[in-house]
Amino acid sequence: VTARTRADRARASRPGAAELMRVANAARRQSYAPYSRFTVGAALLTRGGRVIAASNVENSSYGLSICAERAAVFKAISEGERDFVAIAVTGPAGRAAQPCGSCRQVLHEFAPGLIVHFRGAGGRTLTRSLDQLLPHAFDFDHKTGGRS
Ligand code: THU
Repeated sequence: VTARTRADRARASRPGAAELMRVANAARRQSYAPYSRFTVGAALLTRGGRVIAASNVENSSYGLSICAERAAVFKAISEGERDFVAIAVTGPAGRAAQPCGSCRQVLHEFAPGLIVHFRGAGGRTLTRSLDQLLPHAFDFDHKTGGRS
């Protein structure tokens, strides 16, 4: 097989939006959100087809709380995954859950072309590219590209 067909096969076997949303919703059940009561789950898909899920984790010092999306990115990086193709984000049923600006910037660091599935008004699933959600993102032009 050529590299082209291998890439096509990998793409075809990756979970789609509905499956990623299902995993994100399952992760939402682990959410620790006693202050806002707004439980969020995220499911991050790697190019290799792995799905890394996480929830938001709040703190009594509110500002220390972490969103589900950033928890998923940090979990993935810590597990040696750096190549992401999509993320799904969901909150409570029927509610909008749109990635915050901080999470958009953190996602941009690793995957500027990421596909983002999230809940818009009324809880309906919307899909946008990260580039659409965070135009003109900040980026150093001298990343080392190393694993350090
Ligand atoms: N939150 C997320 O986890 N992701 C988002 O996209 C938006 C907000 C969390 C942070 C906080 O725990 C709660 O939702 C309410 O803001």
